[in-house]
Amino acid sequence: MFQSSSMLAGTPSDYLAPLYHAPPQAIEALQAGLLARPAHIDPKYLYDALGSSLFTAITQLPEYYPTRCEAEILRDHATDIAQHAGKVSALIDLGAGDCVKAEKLFPSLRPEMYIPIDISVEYLHSAVQRLKNTYRDLNVSPIGEDFHHELTLPDTIPRSGRLFFYPGSSIGNLDPERALALLIRIRQSCDDGGLLIGVDRVKSRHVLEPAYDDALHLTAAFNLNLLRHVNQRLGSDFDVRHWQHVAHYDEDHARVQMHLQAQTDVDIHWPQAHRTFRKGERIHTENSYKYTPEGFRDLLTRAGFSHVEHWSDACGWFSVFSARA
Ligand code: AVI
Repeated sequence: MFQSSSMLAGTPSDYLAPLYHAPPQAIEALQAGLLARPAHIDPKYLYDALGSSLFTAITQLPEYYPTRCEAEILRDHATDIAQHAGKVSALIDLGAGDCVKAEKLFPSLRPEMYIPIDISVEYLHSAVQRLKNTYRDLNVSPIGEDFHHELTLPDTIPRSGRLFFYPGSSIGNLDPERALALLIRIRQSCDDGGLLIGVDRVKSRHVLEPAYDDALHLTAAFNLNLLRHVNQRLGSDFDVRHWQHVAHYDEDHARVQMHLQAQTDVDIHWPQAHRTFRKGERIHTENSYKYTPEGFRDLLTRAGFSHVEHWSDACGWFSVFSARA
């Protein structure tokens, strides 16, 4: 029989999966964020297995336009994009996941090699097997790497004709300095290649806020699930029922901010420390920066790219940029 959460005995941490052994630096960083005023938690904790499934579901919501708009651009401008990209010796997919977005580009870009990069190669495994069976002439070489920290590519990938693919406006989850640092790293990794990147645009809060606070409350579940993930990593006793998802467009910084707000006074304990959160206090969990086409073109130029071209969807809500090294 289904039990509602209020019928379960004990604290939430009693019925969660056992603790992972998180490395000491990760524990220190988590603690420092929780004890900071205001508190913050790294958005990477949004993406455990359940969080990743929730994000996939979010991309199918009517309110979450970025995935739909980007697919429209990549489909409607495939020929122009391929022409701008030139000869592609290696298509390097940053944060490849299930590799489906990049696969749609194969017929127009005709890459000789496909290099999906993701934090875990195990996660890429089934997608890579499927691609190898379908595209027998394509050299598919997955790499398990956190490219936000380093971008080391083996010498077997020719430097000439590398096209980096970074879709989904994931660049928006980095603050502008970190975004610039990543773009510089990408620029330094290609000689005469380039970058194809999806970027979400500045627009009305009436479009932005529902995209991050949808009627089905999937984004709320995605945000709250981060507390369950932190409980597993840190051994803390967050009860998601005491927290509320808040999404707000900060127009001054052109970013949507996600927070979790305490619904009542709560004491949170973990093995090394504890903290009281007063009713209404917030934990910051994610920034999602939005760009104007001029602003992002400027960032690409500052990173050392030239020949920048961009395409938009019919509503002008999203852009795909192609920039040559
Ligand atoms: C992954 N990233 C681009 C998403 C975004 O739109 O910033 C993450 C997300 N957060 C809430 N909804 C989706």
